[in-house]
Amino acid sequence: MEIIIAPTYQEMSKISAHFIAREIKKKHDIVLGLATGDTPIGTYQELVKVHKEEGLDFSKITTFNLDEYVGLPPLHKNSYNYFMQDNLFRHVNVNQANVYVPQGNTEDPEEFSAWYEQQIKNAGGIDFQILGIGRDGHIGFNEPGSSFASRTRVKALYKQTIEDNARFFDRIEDVPRFAITMGVGTILEAKKILLIANGEKKADVVAQFIEGPVTSQITATALQLHTLATVVLDEAAASKLKRKEYYNWVRDNKHLVQKMVGR
Ligand code: PGA
Repeated sequence: MEIIIAPTYQEMSKISAHFIAREIKKKHDIVLGLATGDTPIGTYQELVKVHKEEGLDFSKITTFNLDEYVGLPPLHKNSYNYFMQDNLFRHVNVNQANVYVPQGNTEDPEEFSAWYEQQIKNAGGIDFQILGIGRDGHIGFNEPGSSFASRTRVKALYKQTIEDNARFFDRIEDVPRFAITMGVGTILEAKKILLIANGEKKADVVAQFIEGPVTSQITATALQLHTLATVVLDEAAASKLKRKEYYNWVRDNKHLVQKMVGR
């Protein structure tokens, strides 16, 4: 795992957007896995800027979002589909026919989940997956105990997740209890992964998932099993890491590292 510590949220967002833009430039018809939440908003803003100022072309890309609340129709203001339209899709030249977000109001979540997995396969798999992390260590909505082999399916949300996401709803009772989410197994099949995290409230879980043992109780630890995973943090989220100095040395000596390991 490559760990990059940025001084601020803005810098973290710029670095992440730069990585994504670089991948899009390398492969115009890239398949991106996308995340929602507060964390990637700055990254999406930076990407929109690169599109507007440098003409970064989204017209051939395909996107798959990680998750969606069960019960919310796609145009609901708290749906992740709405979030994506609002924060990224309507600001860039993405082809809406190539945009996939799990359908929260599907009548048959099981059948839908199998269909979603099939669409990912048909697209040739996810080239580059963007992730956030929940305070309970989830990636997507893979709550504690999710199998590392899991595929897209419905998960019951953990209490902490419901509390954390209550800020978007009028009342905590309005937060959906279930979500459709890509599985840990689905995520691990992405060719490259970028996880971003910011703020002091993520510091404990960031230290656990990077430096702790691999466990399904913190599903982000599955990234330790991936060969091309990069983590971009701000200083606050990185504050409890024990090996910060080592990560910073590698970051600051990238030219030497690249010569040795070729990436
Ligand atoms: P956040 O959520 O970006 O709103 O902190 C992250 C997540 O739950 O994956």
